[in-house]
Amino acid sequence: MKGIILAGGSATRLRPLTWVTSKQLLPVYNKPMIYYPIETLVKAGITEILVIVSPEFAGHYLNLLGTGKDFGAHFSFVVQPNPGGLAEAFLYGKDFVDDDDVTLILGDNIFDHDFSSQIKNFKGGAKIYAKEVHDPERYGVVEFDEKMNALSIEEKPKKPKSNYAVVGLYTYDNRVVKFVENQKRSERGELEITDLNNIYLKKGELSVDVIEGIWEDAGTFDSLLRAANLMAEKAKKKGK
Ligand code: DAU
Repeated sequence: MKGIILAGGSATRLRPLTWVTSKQLLPVYNKPMIYYPIETLVKAGITEILVIVSPEFAGHYLNLLGTGKDFGAHFSFVVQPNPGGLAEAFLYGKDFVDDDDVTLILGDNIFDHDFSSQIKNFKGGAKIYAKEVHDPERYGVVEFDEKMNALSIEEKPKKPKSNYAVVGLYTYDNRVVKFVENQKRSERGELEITDLNNIYLKKGELSVDVIEGIWEDAGTFDSLLRAANLMAEKAKKKGK
């Protein structure tokens, strides 16, 4: 299982913080934001990691992260010239993925869930994760039947069919590259992760696990502050 961290994008919602640096390098309590997704992957046993970055800040990532040795991992880097959608990760990551399965994590997603058993037991198809939230319209939203089988996934729906948000960690079998190569762009010109998930759902090969614990998408001032406070609490508890 290989890992990809998506750390590009223009982060306009966090300006002026992101005029001269990348969102995923901003501090979340005592670490740069990207340390959290790196630690999530490494904790899950994924150590071969591709970091996808935007051209302006590529050098910052190389300087900060280096080979990956300090994290017990091995890093590769690739530049995404324009933010053309989350599923583009598999186009820019095609050579890196090669013949393996792959887990994508968004560089601004902070978890304390331990994904190791789910990753270890991955048997093909697609596995995604959901968490109950109060503001589902901000996210991809999964609708479940009474047995918690996924019925539909919609991206930022005005009228969400449930309170379950799709979180930013996704595991796919090796066919993902081929599926994305044949995927159509959405109206906003992006290769949407939700469209990709729907390809697997239509084939009956998508499973969704509900996770507990901390999950923050630190893409707004409020969620960035919340993430910092939660990580401070967690770090202090651990220190005691
Ligand atoms: O956080 C979970 C949500 O992430 C999911 O519920 C949604 O289904 C999914 O579409 C995504 O929504 P966001 O609105 O949070 O996506 P955003 O455009 O903010 O991109 C997420 C991260 O990926 C962000 O750190 C920037 C990076 N990114 C984004 C795009 C579009 C890239 O590196 N390249 C890109 O092309």
